[in-house]
This record gives sequence, structure tokens and C-alpha cells, in this order.
Amino acid sequence: MELSITTTEKLKSKPDDAGLGFGTLFTDYMFNMDYAPDKGWHSPRIEPYASIEMDPATMFLHYGQGVFEGLKAYRTESGRIQLFRPQENLKRLNRSSRRLCIPAVDETFVLDAMKQLITTEKDWVPGAPETSLYIRPTIIAMDPFLGVRASHTYRFFIILSPVGAYYPEGFNPIKILVASDYVRAVRGGVGEAKTPGNYAASLLAGEHAHEAGYTQVLWLDGVEQKYLEEVGSMNIFFVIDDEIITPELNGSILPGITRKSVIELAKHWSEKVSERKISIDELMQAHTAGSLKEVFGAGTAAVISPVGQIKYGDQVITINDNQTGPIAQKYYNTITGIQYGQAEDPMGWIVPVA
Ligand SMILES: Cc1ncc(COP(=O)(O)O)c(C=O)c1O
Repeated sequence: MELSITTTEKLKSKPDDAGLGFGTLFTDYMFNMDYAPDKGWHSPRIEPYASIEMDPATMFLHYGQGVFEGLKAYRTESGRIQLFRPQENLKRLNRSSRRLCIPAVDETFVLDAMKQLITTEKDWVPGAPETSLYIRPTIIAMDPFLGVRASHTYRFFIILSPVGAYYPEGFNPIKILVASDYVRAVRGGVGEAKTPGNYAASLLAGEHAHEAGYTQVLWLDGVEQKYLEEVGSMNIFFVIDDEIITPELNGSILPGITRKSVIELAKHWSEKVSERKISIDELMQAHTAGSLKEVFGAGTAAVISPVGQIKYGDQVITINDNQTGPIAQKYYNTITGIQYGQAEDPMGWIVPVA
């Protein structure tokens, strides 16, 4: 497939790196590609960022058949631009697509197209500490049709957004609320796919958490509401005595790439790391016994996010005196060090762009 490029003279003014928020600004160009049953994925193109025109009956709008990804491009001190494990995001994109009956993309081709798009937009990759260029590949069902079935046509696009810190707290402990009235996903559902409906389903519980003064929701499993699953848009880790624990992937948890990286680093360092079921009762008991040392979230947006307080029913527990713990700090320093090219990359996770 030949990638075509259409350029424009009308470029936006670039923001000040130091004041960047998250997800509000978009670059000058985007990648687009279409799918039709007789042509497969076709017409890959980089073109000026623009609205997508759609029929009001477009299936994605009604039935939510779509998937997306989120990853970042980082600028190193020497000005190089690099990606962190992008192949993992494209693998997950195709896994999500399979669950949503969307045709797979060629991962190698899409990675090359993504690199070309970022190269075109290299001046948009910010250089201030903790900033990056967020990359959002997305696929949506495009048939104009009312009726529940898989669409025959799709649009794949990639947009780019220069970003700063995801949480206003920065790398400081956040407060999370255990959801008791709602669940995010159930066994056999779409929880392990990165699909818009999961995020829509999380909003009301998120609003309740915010109203109560909490940053994020800690989800329990959707069957027994007993086991811990994940938090907001992050996976979750608990340090109990010398064991680093994260809930095992059970079909309703999103298999995070940051999660995978923490586990692989822990194994590389010969630390005791377990992917297993952990119940809210075990967590509360560990806290009472004084063996709960740290809790932290892991995800692309915030990388590692220490958790300082958890509320479950009427109980509120404070972890590590509401301070960032040494383990969260170590994983944060190592992963961001690799991402920004300040540390060795012993695992071969970096993919250079330009
Ligand atoms: C629901 C959910 N869980 C976990 C994660 C963390 O995944 P990753 O580390 O790949 O960003 C994300 C973010 O993508 C998410 O949206």
C-alpha cells in the first residue's frame, strides 16, 4: 500500500511547552485509512487535520462499534523522538478489534505510517519535562445503517496531541474511591478491549467519586464485587510486605502496557511480583496488619500514580502516610528514564522515530 501525503500552508501556532494540559490541542495533520469488504484496508494517507463527515445513521454513533489506543512519543534531551513499545499498542488494537468484529490492520504498516505522521509533526513533540506527544489511533464503524450487526466499512485514523501531566496532582498521591454501586465490566464482556463503551460506562461512578473528593474509581469485579480490578484508566499494583501484586488478567481488565512493563521490570530485578486475585478484604486486612506498604496505578497517561488514600464504604485508609513510596518512585524513574532516553533500555522497549 502506498501512503499519500497532502500538505497544507495553514499551520496552527504551537503552544508553550511549559503550560500544556491533556487532550485539548491537536496537531496540523492526521493519518486516515478506510476499509471496504472488496478493497480491505485502503487509501492510507496523511492529510491536514479535519472533521470527519458522517451520515447521522453512521453505525458507530448508534452502536459504539469502535476501538482505540493511546501511546506517546517522547523527545529526548538530545532532541531525538522515540516511542515506547508501540508494537504492544498495535497488537492490543487488533485484539480489541477482534472482540468488536472489526477487521485487523497490518501492524507493521500502521507503525510505519504512525512514524511518518510523527516525523511530519516532529516540531509538535514538546521538550519540557514530563511532556510528550499523545497518539490516538482509532477505528470506527462507518456504514450508514440502523440495525445491530457488524459494519461493512470502517475508518481508521490517528490524531496527535501535545500533552503535559494527566493528573493536576502531578506525581503526588491520589485519592481513590472503591465503586460499590456500579461495575465497569463483567466476565465475558468487553472490559479487556479498549472500546468507547467501557469509558461511557465508567462516567457516572467517576462523577460520584469527584463529588466525594476522590480523583478516580477503584473497580471491583463485576460478578462478586469482591476482587480488585483496575482504577480509572490505569491498572493497579499493591505492595504487601515484599510482594508486588497486580490483579490477574481475567477478561474484564484492560491489559495495560505500563502494567506489563512493571511486571517485566520486577522480574528483571528478581523482585517478588504476582499476578493474582486480590480481594478488597485482603487489602483492608493488610492495611490493618500494617503490611500494606504501597499502592500505585500504572498507565500511559500518568505512567505511575501513587495512591495515598482509599475509601471503601465508610472506611478510609491512608497508605504510606500519603507519601510517594520508594517502589512507586523506582518504577516511575526507571520507566520515564527509558521513555525520555535518560536511562539504559535493557529490555529493548524503545522504537526511534526521528
Ligand atoms: C481502563 C484502562 N486500564 C488500564 C490502562 C493502562 O493501559 P496502558 O498502560 O497500556 O496505558 C488504560 C489506559 O490505556 C485504561 O484505559
